[in-house]
Order: sequence, then C-alpha cells, then structure tokens
Amino acid sequence: MLVRDYIDDALYNPHYGYFSKEAVIFNTDKPFKFPQIRDETAFHKDFTQQYKEFEDKLDAETPNNLRQLWHTPTELFRPYYGEAIARYLYENYVIDLYPEYDLIVYEMGAGNGTLMVNILDWLRDNVPDVYIRTQFKIIEISKRMVQQQLKSVERSGHLEHVEVIHSSMFDFSTYVANPCYFLALEVFDNFAHDMVRYDLQTQQPLQGYLMIDQEGEFHEFYTPDLDPRTKRYLDLRRKIDNPEHDKMFSNVIAKSFKDTIRNSSAWNRLKWGLKNRIWFQENLTAPEFIPTRAMEFLELLNSRFPHHRLLMSDFDYLPDTVEGMNAPVVQTRYKRETIAVSQLFVHQGYFDILFPTDFVEIAKMYELLSGKFARVETHEKFMRSWAELSDTTTKSKENPLLTWYKNASVMYTH
Ligand SMILES: C[S@@+](CC[C@H](N)C(=O)[O-])C[C@H]1O[C@@H](n2cnc3c(N)ncnc32)[C@H](O)[C@@H]1O
Repeated sequence: MLVRDYIDDALYNPHYGYFSKEAVIFNTDKPFKFPQIRDETAFHKDFTQQYKEFEDKLDAETPNNLRQLWHTPTELFRPYYGEAIARYLYENYVIDLYPEYDLIVYEMGAGNGTLMVNILDWLRDNVPDVYIRTQFKIIEISKRMVQQQLKSVERSGHLEHVEVIHSSMFDFSTYVANPCYFLALEVFDNFAHDMVRYDLQTQQPLQGYLMIDQEGEFHEFYTPDLDPRTKRYLDLRRKIDNPEHDKMFSNVIAKSFKDTIRNSSAWNRLKWGLKNRIWFQENLTAPEFIPTRAMEFLELLNSRFPHHRLLMSDFDYLPDTVEGMNAPVVQTRYKRETIAVSQLFVHQGYFDILFPTDFVEIAKMYELLSGKFARVETHEKFMRSWAELSDTTTKSKENPLLTWYKNASVMYTH
C-alpha cells in the first residue's frame, strides 16, 4: 500500500484506527481563571493536576492503560481561544459579507465541539443580530467525536444553529455556493503524507510503498513510477519559491548525493550499479514526506467551497520526529506516559502520527491552486490581534496564551 493509505488506515480505520478507538481530548469542568493564578509555573502545576484528575475520573469508570489523552489550545484556553476566533470571524464578516449574506461557518475536525460552543456563545452575548443569522456546521470523521460534539451542542442551547455532519472531509460531496468561513484547527497535522526517497546516483524521486507480510512484518519498497498525486505535488512545488525548504532539502536529502559522489570508487560504482536494480532503503536517501492529503484538501476546498475563507492553525515544528524531511512524530501513551518511537510503521491504531506543517509552502500552494491570498502569522501574533489578553494574563503578567504553542502558526485566506 501507499504510505498515505497506511497512515489513513492507522489513524482513521473505523474499527481500529487511532481516532476511532482510544483518543480522548482533555477538557476542564471550569475554565482556568488566569488572573487569579500566580504565574506560568503555577498554571503549569494547576494544569498537570487537572489533567491527572480528569484521567482519574475516567479510570474510575473504565480503567485503560492505553487511553490516548491529549490537549489542544481550544481546550486549554477555553473560552478565550474560541472568543478570539469569534472576533476574527465577526470583524471579517461585517467587512466582507454583512448584511447580504448569513454568517456560515464550517469547522472540520471539531474534537469535543468546544470551539463551536465558545464561538456561538460569544456571538450570542456580543452581537445577537449576527448570532441569529449564524449557521455552524461541523464535518467530523470520528463517530466518537461526533457523539461528543452532539452532547456539547445540546448542553449549550445552540441546537438551532448547528449541524454535525459525520463524514471525512475527503468524502464531503456537497457544493456550498454561499460565502463561508472554513476552520481547521489541529487537523492538518494528521493529514496523511506520501513518502519518497531519492536515488543516490540519478537523484530521481522514488515512490515509497509498504508491504505487510503474513507474519505482520512491515517492509518498505520503492518504485520509480510516482503515484499521480505525489507527482502533481512535486510538479506544483517546482513553481514555489521556498528558500527554507531548499536549505533543509540540501541538509537532509541532497547531502547524501554528494556523499555518494565523494565515495564513488570504481568498486563502489559497480556495487551501486548492481544495487540500483532493486530499490530498498539502503541505497536511497533519507525519506521525504509529501503532504499529498493537504494538497487534496486545498483542491477540495476550492471546488466544493468556491467562496470560502480558510482559517487554519497547526504546528510549524515538532520535536522528536522519525528520520527524514518533513517527518512525523509517531507516539503513543501507555500508563499515562507519552512515548515517541523512531519508526513510522507500527501497530495500527495505537499510535498518533502527526506532521509539522511547512506554512510557507502550504500558503504558496494555496495561492497557486486558488488564485486567492493567504497570510501566515505565528499563533502568538494572531492571538495578540484577536484575543482579549487580560483574560489569560496571570498575576505575574505572564500570558500562557501567548507563550505556550510557540511552535504553532496560523494561516488565513481571502
Ligand atoms: C487534534 S483534533 C483537534 C480538535 C479540535 N479542532 C481542537 O482544536 O480542539 C483533530 C480532529 O479532527 C478530526 N479529523 C481528522 N481528520 C479528519 C477528516 N479528514 N475529516 C474530518 N475530521 C477529521 C478528528 O477526529 C478530531 O476531531
């Protein structure tokens, strides 16, 4: 199978996929009261304590050593993170679309549904005339998350304004003719990637495949026939100027080309010649991961939602990745400990596989595919523009909303 199919299966298979089975997103009974917290260290302590209590409660009902518990800025800074996004939506809506159009918001991958509730609460409390014209639609792949989101809608009293669509974004076939805002927060990181390695001598990219044998062992192999989506991505990328990418490519991939030339004695050349008839990873560069699903998403967004404005946020950098360029973190939680592993091919369903996003590349790819503008900002800059900072400032004047998630960026389009 293609590596992207392996990743999709490992994360989303309805029976054993990571998101179908063990994944739980942390949430608090009550928001953190930042102005009453001493400083960032005290917040960290408080958060760790609440995390523990949250899991103790779940374990009291059903003990589970394999529970995959994680947190997102939406949950940690609830409702302030959602309120910042509500302000962004409202201000842009008033400038661009009010009063001709209703405010239509799509959210792909809504987790517990917390962001939706926080946005609708803010609109209801601050701009009721816009709230009554707001429709909020969630597109969610995971049945468990859908159930969670439906509970959140019911509790919040926004039932009339919300629709939860249980579908993968990639199976969503409705054409949305109206202008709308499209939110994607911490969803890109789980978009599957293809894997290529480069032939050391010809520098040709080769498509990576995974084979699982009867004993369940994983084997990688490579062919020179690129999958059409990989080929399309690489073709489009040639049109993009991204100096950071070029630098990284030289360091991680092209370095091996030079090494091969340096070591190419007659004997070595003969050896490589023989080896090159079969492509296994030993005679190739380190892998490069190609965001083919992200490209597919952008194409889908343009064709199904031609008048959208996209707002997405995700990690621009991740530590502890597996080997390669643009490589993912592969991690699991066992007995409440997070364990990152060094290989991509692991027992499906037990591991999260998450990729950093190259925001320069994705923004330029978006512009290339849509003909619209995309802007990229750090999470901190975006929050400085749209959040009510006093809500998340501690007594010491430290502000975790700005200082946590240093490795996240935001892209918004117009
Ligand atoms: C890391 S969680 C983020 C949740 C939420 N946005 C937040 O920030 O708290 C990712 C969410 O995206 C959903 N998801 C992942 N891939 C998806 C896809 N292709 N279509 C729709 N939902 C998807 C997952 O089930 C999950 O709800």
